[in-house]
Amino acid sequence: MKHLQIAIDGPAGAGKSTVARQVAGRLGLSYVDTGAMYRAIAWKALRENLDVHDEEAITQLAEQLTFSLHPQGIIVNGLLLKEEIRTQEISALASAIAKMPGVRRILVNKQQEIAARQSVVMDGRDIGTHVLPEADVKVFLTASIEERAFRRYKELKAKGIDVNLDQLREEIKHRDENDRTRKYAPLEQAKDAVLIDTTDLSIEDIVESIMQLCRHKMGGEE
Ligand code: CDP
Ligand code: CDP
Repeated sequence: MKHLQIAIDGPAGAGKSTVARQVAGRLGLSYVDTGAMYRAIAWKALRENLDVHDEEAITQLAEQLTFSLHPQGIIVNGLLLKEEIRTQEISALASAIAKMPGVRRILVNKQQEIAARQSVVMDGRDIGTHVLPEADVKVFLTASIEERAFRRYKELKAKGIDVNLDQLREEIKHRDENDRTRKYAPLEQAKDAVLIDTTDLSIEDIVESIMQLCRHKMGGEE
């Protein structure tokens, strides 16, 4: 049987990972957080004292890493990574590393291998455009920058992390700009993706809209 592929892309804080995880849970599919893979490379590079701007060293590192899925994070070379890859420092470094064509090539291969083995809901920046161009359902989530920054602010607050909302908004803007303007596989909506502006939508609303698209695709079945 052909594996099902659901691709969810969009800028930071649009709600991708939250809704992708829920859609995967409801459909019984595997959730693949591709951002966690870029983050894991950045985290590992810091741990190994590598220069994160040294393209050759970072590409070599990406080649050496093995990734496997875990409900609470991502397993990288046998180690479960969770909150340690969610810091603002790692977000910025991941975005810098994500510009490197060699790193992207390696990760896209690994992501495609995962999707070849099982049905997936995969989220990121280039899933509908490059990783799974033939995905059954493609969704591009957006929300205003104010809303996205505020969501992240609340999330960090709830974890006991104090951040300045203005600074967080500027960091997210800067990262979006980097992701949108990079040369290789920039953040953009695939031509055949359904755009959902989530600014005024609850998580449940977004999940329900995506479930409807999936039901439609699967001919009325969940
Ligand atoms: O993966 P992405 O960066 O697109 O966003 P996320 O991590 O899924 O969502 C960022 C935060 O916004 C999380 O804390 C979500 O629970 C929250 N969120 C929300 O409050 N309302 C929504 N409609 C969507 C997400
Ligand atoms: O959770 P959030 O949306 O803030 O970020 P993420 O999805 O964890 O991705 C972190 C960074 O990795 C992004 O800012 C992108 O630079 C990069 N990334 C990418 O280039 N391509 C992907 N498919 C996923 C992430």
